[in-house]
Amino acid sequence: MKLKELISRARTCRRFKGDHRLSSETLADLVDHARLSASARNHQVLRFITIADRDTCEAMNALVVMGGSLTPEQRATATQHPGGFIVIAGPEKMDDFALMDVGIAAQSINLAACEAGLACCMIGAVKRNEAAALLELPKELQVKLVLALGEPDEVRHLVERRSDGSLTYYRDENDEHCVPKISLEEAIIIRK
Ligand SMILES: Cc1cc2nc3c(=O)[nH]c(=O)nc-3n(C[C@H](O)[C@H](O)[C@H](O)COP(=O)(O)O)c2cc1C
Repeated sequence: MKLKELISRARTCRRFKGDHRLSSETLADLVDHARLSASARNHQVLRFITIADRDTCEAMNALVVMGGSLTPEQRATATQHPGGFIVIAGPEKMDDFALMDVGIAAQSINLAACEAGLACCMIGAVKRNEAAALLELPKELQVKLVLALGEPDEVRHLVERRSDGSLTYYRDENDEHCVPKISLEEAIIIRK
């Protein structure tokens, strides 16, 4: 698959096949894609926690919000929880460049998951302190971003910006998840 197609397919997923569990090995392989990615000053300050254990997954799932813009009926049911999580952790103080590592790592994992037929939801809306306690995170590290992973149980696709200008994701009449993206003409503001 061409990279652009992979990027286009790698849409955020919030409803998973809950009975499809991800192994520690699968999660570790996804982390390996982040490990090999670019890093500001190559300092590589990020560390990763993989969660394959079902009980810990359920506990983590209770600490995150997926699909804040969706109605409760449009969010995951009890049988659609993620099959695993990866938590990206880093030092409390990270400058702008170091924080960029978080996004780069997350997208590497997202793309690797998509390539493997899985899907991902990057989650900033997490109860960080409670998650750190659950994971017994070393005190010098903080939760930066949580990635929910699993086999997708919803159709997601890209659409153009809505006629009212909104870029908020939504479900269409077929309960398919639609993600508006700006056009290339809007994205590139100067061509010299
Ligand atoms: C840094 C970051 C934090 C995010 N946090 C959340 C979140 O807390 N909950 C959620 O459901 N989605 C979250 N998302 C997913 C975005 O909502 C999603 O990327 C956006 O709707 C565009 O969809 P796409 O990823 O399919 O392009 C986050 C994405 C990023 C990059």
